[in-house]
Amino acid sequence: MEFTFKTLDDVDYIGKRILVRIDMNCSVDPETKQITDSSRIDAARQTLEELSKSKVALMAHQGRPGSEDFISLVQHTDILRDLGFNAKYVDDIFGPTAKNAIKQLKNGEILVLQNVRNFDGEMKNASPEEVALEPIVQELYPLFDLFVNDAFGAAHRSQASLVGFTVVLPSVAGRLVEKEIRTLIAATDTEQHPWTLVLGGSKVEDKVKTLNKLLSTGRVDNALLGGLIGTLFLIADNKVPESYSAPIEGFDAAIETARELLSKFSDVLILPEDASVERDNQRIDCGFKDMNGDPFLDIGPQTVKKYISIIKSSAVVFGNGPMGYFEKEEFATGTVEVLRAIAQCKGVTVVGGGHMGAMAVKMNLENSITHISTGGGATINFLTGKKLDLIAALEEAAKRM
Ligand code: 3PG
Repeated sequence: MEFTFKTLDDVDYIGKRILVRIDMNCSVDPETKQITDSSRIDAARQTLEELSKSKVALMAHQGRPGSEDFISLVQHTDILRDLGFNAKYVDDIFGPTAKNAIKQLKNGEILVLQNVRNFDGEMKNASPEEVALEPIVQELYPLFDLFVNDAFGAAHRSQASLVGFTVVLPSVAGRLVEKEIRTLIAATDTEQHPWTLVLGGSKVEDKVKTLNKLLSTGRVDNALLGGLIGTLFLIADNKVPESYSAPIEGFDAAIETARELLSKFSDVLILPEDASVERDNQRIDCGFKDMNGDPFLDIGPQTVKKYISIIKSSAVVFGNGPMGYFEKEEFATGTVEVLRAIAQCKGVTVVGGGHMGAMAVKMNLENSITHISTGGGATINFLTGKKLDLIAALEEAAKRM
């Protein structure tokens, strides 16, 4: 397949100093802070193996500042070592400690830099030219010959570590980005219907915006909602009280859009019909009227039954984001059942995102799902037809090379 951007096939990398950005944002146990699934680290293997005769500095994020999964990349480095890479960690991004360690890199070594989101400017989304002015880019780029972007999971973000370096360094896509783009193009090259989206999880502010774009394409026949995005729409539809907004980060910014979407796309949006709450440390299935303010942690059995039937009779299914608080086993039922139905669907099926992808792997569903993508938000954004920021930046870089 001809790509519109350059890949590792187009450059000399042996013996070179290479800055590699990957997405190894993993699921983390909220209590122990231990990584519970490392499939996104595994997914970076091919690129890192190909660069085994180069000097590699590895850049990645984990969580967001303030979130439960915002941890350092020390465990990630240990996992890379377990995979056989000669990896070491430096607790710095672009200060003198990191720069010295980068300068001392030898061929075959991987230096994992500190979680890039420790640098405040990283959370800013702006044009590649603008974020290229951030100190993280200005301080680091003179130390490298090449930038390799393999962070497909974050391909919809226009942040300094993702697109800034493409302005100032020769830049190519890594093997995972190639594989994801090739597979997603093939999976979406179909006019078949019914076309079903299963959307759960948090990050509601992002998700209502992407839903708006995606539903406006007319491609989606059913959008089955769960998780916190499901709760948001249930509040917008006055089905559950607004007090249930407490765990929803970004609620105020998202609720109006959710109401607009409900009025514009009432025939496509399908909301949970019942709930599972936590009462006296137990899972209780109930109607919305009987929730009594107890934590709403999963979709209920009636909803599961309805979603399974829609999924199994679909020609295309895209799933992203868990249906409930799957970290607690008793509240993983909705996510598990939905994934099982996706695996049983005879059509084209794609599951994406750190959490849902990890659960699909844990359930050994790799061979029954067409593609398990490392991208959650990235994959849903890809479906809207808008070029992903990472790809657009690599295309511009290719023109300059
Ligand atoms: C993801 O998990 O979707 C990616 O790693 C991007 O993370 P973000 O939504 O925090 O930018």
